[in-house]
This record gives sequence, structure tokens and C-alpha cells, in this order.
Amino acid sequence: MRLALQRRQRTRGSGEKGERLAVPAGGSRLREEEYLLMGETAAPAPSLHVEVEAEETPVKVRGLWAGYTGGHVALEDVSFSLERGSLVGLAGPNGSGKSTLLKVILGLHRPWRGSVHLFGETPASGRRRLGYAPQSELVDWSFPVTVADVVGMGRIGPMPGWPARRLWRRSGWEDGRIVRQCLERAHLEHLAKRAIGELSGGEQRRMLIARALAREPDILLLDEPMAGLDAASQHDMLHLFEDLRDDGKTLLVSTHDLSFVVECFNLALLLHRRVIAYGPPSQVLTRENLNATYEGNVLFLPPEGSDSSRQRRHG
Ligand SMILES: Nc1ncnc2c1ncn2[C@@H]1O[C@H](COP(=O)(O)OP(=O)(O)OP(=O)(O)O)[C@@H](O)[C@H]1O
Ligand SMILES: [Mg+2]
Repeated sequence: MRLALQRRQRTRGSGEKGERLAVPAGGSRLREEEYLLMGETAAPAPSLHVEVEAEETPVKVRGLWAGYTGGHVALEDVSFSLERGSLVGLAGPNGSGKSTLLKVILGLHRPWRGSVHLFGETPASGRRRLGYAPQSELVDWSFPVTVADVVGMGRIGPMPGWPARRLWRRSGWEDGRIVRQCLERAHLEHLAKRAIGELSGGEQRRMLIARALAREPDILLLDEPMAGLDAASQHDMLHLFEDLRDDGKTLLVSTHDLSFVVECFNLALLLHRRVIAYGPPSQVLTRENLNATYEGNVLFLPPEGSDSSRQRRHG
């Protein structure tokens, strides 16, 4: 199946920055404090999800509500689990809550309700097993540090395998070796000494992945890592993701490129504030689910070689 997103044609609807949203169950507009006080009577939004209840589930999210000051709702009753050794594509339109969800899992953003468990632990203690690459727009690229410095920052703080209370240790030979290895995996070794402000957009993204890898994490949360990469770099990155998955890592990767999710990912999670669908890409990326997620702004391309695709190219 080939899919592409169509430019939004309508006027921007609910879910835009700063807008206050109504709660579907009650219909009334609530402030953040009121969400915090909501009891179990609030009707849970229906959501599809794959149940993974292994003993050591890498990521378990239950009944998550999150948003921003002023009562802006970004996530509504989100529940899903990620199993070990899975490559999961997180897709949804701009403002659908992808980055917010990753930040809540990471413990960077506090949810209003619900729970997140990483290998059975809270995000605060479980995040030593996490690697995170933010959307590159969120990084201050004028900061005077080199690529190797930034990748080395991935070695700062509690590491996987440490007891929850250990916070610090001297950096040493082992750290240097791992940083070099991560630079190589991201094809950045020749840029190790370059100031980060002098990187191209694609190189910036690869550097953020290398920093996430430097933690030697069991779970990787990657926010739009493939945006702006050329075809060769995208393929290199997909191979890297597949290698990491085959090593038993769990990857949650937000992306706007649904074709990659269809071709290379084990599972797809469609998000539009709530989970629209979660499961194998072939079952999740259906016309009905995509229309529900992207509010009709999806262009369905006929398969390569079909009559209508030939007509479109030549006619
Ligand atoms: N710091 C903030 N303060 C207030 N509202 C915010 C903040 N960050 C995000 N939002 C709002 O929360 C909603 C979800 O934003 P989020 O960044 O999670 O979406 P996204 O799916 O990652 O979008 P994109 O594809 O554009 O990266 C949006 O409506 C956004 O405007
Ligand atoms: Mg985002």
C-alpha cells in the first residue's frame, strides 16, 4: 500500500495551539484542575490497543490524560503497551499529541491522570533505560559544543543496569569507546569535532539519534527522526532501527511518513489525542482509520503499476 498525506485544505479545527477543548463525555469545557479532580465517572474514550502483558513490559501506558495550562487537552485516555523487540510507528497529524506522549513516557511532562510504567517502574526510575531524540526544532543549535560533546552527553546521568539511586560516576575510556561507536552507527565519525550549529538538518537528526544510543538504552523514543533526511539517509536509519529491534530494543518512532511504517515497522499506533488504532500496520492503516486520524486529509495512491497510477503519470 502506498500512502501520502495531503496538504490540509480546511480551516484549522479543534486541537490547534491554545484552543480549549471540550471533554467528549460531558460536553462541558473543563480547566486543568478540574481534570485533576475528575473521578472514575468520566466516561473513558473508546480506543483500540494491542494488549501486551509480559512480566517485564518495556512500556505500559494506562488511561493517560495530559495537556497544558489553560485546560488545553493533548492526550485523552491513551492506553497501550510496547513489547520487547518491537519497532512501532507513532503517526498522527500536527498537534495530535505525539511529542506530548513521548515526553510523558520520558517523565518530562506530568500527566493529569493515568499511569506510565517502564519495565514495571515509574518514569522517574525507569528512564535510565530510555534513550530519547527530541524533534530537532526543539534544540538550541547555536550552543557552542561539538557533535562528540553532545553524543557524550548521552553518557551523563543514571545508566541502564544501575541501581535506581546511583546518579553519577566518572567518565572514562569506556564512555569514549561507546561515543565513537555511536558516531559510527549514525555515520557521523567524520563530523565529531564539528560545532553543532554547522550541521545540516539531516546530520542534526543523526546526531540526536547517536546521543540517544550512547545511553545504551533498552527503549528508544525518537521524535520525527527521519524528517528532512534524503532517501539514502532514511534507508540507513531504517536499517539502524531494524538492527536495534533485532537486538531486542523497543523503539517508538513518531513519523509523518506512513509508507515507512507500512514497509518496515512491526506495529503502527495512530494517534489523534486518543488512540485511533494500534496493531500491525496492514490492519491499522486502513482507509477508515486514516480518515478518522487525519480528518479526511489523506491521499490514497493506487498500487504501483495499476492502470490508474499509469494514467496519472502519463496523462
Ligand atoms: N508547551 C506547550 N504549551 C501549550 N500547548 C502545547 C505545548 N506543547 C504542545 N502544545 C499543544 O498540545 C497539542 C499536542 O502537541 P504535540 O507537540 O504533542 O503534537 P505533535 O503530534 O507532536 O505535533 P507535530 O506533528 O506538529 O510535531 C497541540 O495542540 C499543541 O499546540
Ligand atoms: Mg511533535
